Amino acid sequence: MRAAAGDVVGILCLVSVAAALDFKYHHTEELEAYLKSVHAAYPSLTHLHSIGRSVEGRDLWVLVLGRFPTHHKIGIPEFKYVANMHGDETVGREILLHLIEFLVTSYRRDPVITRLLNTTRIHVMPTMNPDGFEATKVPDCYYTQGRYNKNGEDLNRNFPDAFENNNASIQPETQAVMNWIKNETFVLSANLHGGALVASYTFDNGNSVTSTLKGYSRSPDDDVFIHLAKTYSFNHASMYKGTGCDNRQTFPEGITNGYSWYQLEGGMQDYNYVWGQCFEITLELSCCKYPPADQLEKFWRDNKAALIEYIKQVHLGVKGQVTDKNGTPIPNAIVEAKGRPHVCPYRTNKHGEYFLLLLPGTYVINATVPGFKSILETVEIPDNTGNFSALKHDFSFSQVSIQSTAGSCPKTPLYQELERASSAAAKPTLHVFGLMTIMLVIFK
Ligand SMILES: *[C@@H]1O[C@H](CO)[C@@H](O)[C@H](O)[C@H]1NC(C)=O
Ligand SMILES: *[C@@H]1O[C@H](CO)[C@@H](O)[C@H](O)[C@H]1NC(C)=O
Ligand SMILES: *[C@@H]1O[C@H](CO)[C@@H](O)[C@H](O)[C@H]1NC(C)=O
Ligand SMILES: *[C@@H]1O[C@H](CO)[C@@H](O)[C@H](O)[C@H]1NC(C)=O
Ligand SMILES: *[C@@H]1O[C@H](CO)[C@@H](O)[C@H](O)[C@H]1NC(C)=O
Ligand SMILES: [Zn+2]
Repeated sequence: MRAAAGDVVGILCLVSVAAALDFKYHHTEELEAYLKSVHAAYPSLTHLHSIGRSVEGRDLWVLVLGRFPTHHKIGIPEFKYVANMHGDETVGREILLHLIEFLVTSYRRDPVITRLLNTTRIHVMPTMNPDGFEATKVPDCYYTQGRYNKNGEDLNRNFPDAFENNNASIQPETQAVMNWIKNETFVLSANLHGGALVASYTFDNGNSVTSTLKGYSRSPDDDVFIHLAKTYSFNHASMYKGTGCDNRQTFPEGITNGYSWYQLEGGMQDYNYVWGQCFEITLELSCCKYPPADQLEKFWRDNKAALIEYIKQVHLGVKGQVTDKNGTPIPNAIVEAKGRPHVCPYRTNKHGEYFLLLLPGTYVINATVPGFKSILETVEIPDNTGNFSALKHDFSFSQVSIQSTAGSCPKTPLYQELERASSAAAKPTLHVFGLMTIMLVIFK
């Protein structure tokens, strides 16, 4: 009996040496040390790199997890989580560290996590605003200066905007994330905040073209976004109840359109969707922005299943490659589902790959290389997220040596131009909403 108990203690000790993570706040040095220790313990399952530096020179660390962590593999979708872009919203920062620990320790033990890591490349950025976090000295439920970066800019107002000119100067943290998005073929993402309890989806800004006169800013993929937000809220311990944080704000089923909640300019989720070809939602995970450390374990338990189920959604829809007659991949080909065009058309990456997140159903997929006849093919998309692979459907052009010019989309407010074009035809009446809520507290 004694010997058996001793063995159990011995095993527990071994596990904890590999990746012990306390439920407490990890400041810059501890966070870096933790990420480095995980990479050292799991060198073939993880890749650690910094995508840039903050104003005060702190590294912006990203830990990549997957069977092929160092580089993209054809057919394997790229997923990301970004937390703590508001330095005073701290729960996401810590639960992403626990997510990392859970993923690495479950690989080859838990069959679902093993499959997930074999079929998905997962990028985790625990903090996008390390300076703001360090500037927030002690736990505080309400908004503090630590929200902003060292230059006093709100990073979730700092991205190019599709609806109006964003005059804020792009900060180093924002630029690093923009370069990162350009560098990878991200398909799905979430951005973790605090101060409320809700999953909020694009658009955060809007105009009459996205039907804001109805108090909602609708993207062409609204059905997919609602599904994504509900996947999170219904797998969370309580978000789906929609009771929010006080009786002023309730969110049916724990979700909201970003604009319906409150309009903002220069947000990261709209940028991801318009220019990054990546569906991103904003997760508000705690009523208290910076809760005491003794609540972190409960936050991790409340979010664990939701974090995992949300990653699996990267396998929704359809994916494949566009090639010429010889099988040579065609980069920059436009691939869109008919009836849901993106304002910046989604294009294939350098391997000729496309990924389209779509709910189960029948769609016509249109693959176009300017100057050639479009290929339109009907696909039947099954409910296949349980299979850890989107439907695979390749397109082959019957010509050879097809070139498509790089398709960088203009940064001008694209939807503003669409609105001008449509209002030239019919001028919409101006609706003035009765009372604007004065936002004493800001969240996303
Ligand atoms: C995951 O990949 C590893 C390495 O190739 C392989 O041994 C294992 O069988 C795979 N497991 C699953 C569940 O796909
Ligand atoms: C940005 O600058 C332009 C041109 O100076 C101005 O018309 C616009 O109102 C400004 N936008 C904001 C949000 O301040
Ligand atoms: C861009 O991708 C290359 C190749 O995978 C990598 O070496 C580099 O670190 C990446 N840069 C950023 C900012 O992600
Ligand atoms: C296919 O996509 C191209 C490029 O976006 C577009 O010009 C064309 O009208 C589309 N064709 C159909 C039939 O929708
Ligand atoms: C899931 O994968 C299995 C085995 O590869 C296959 O038989 C099945 O058709 C797939 N289901 C869907 C819905 O894609
Ligand atoms: Zn926030």
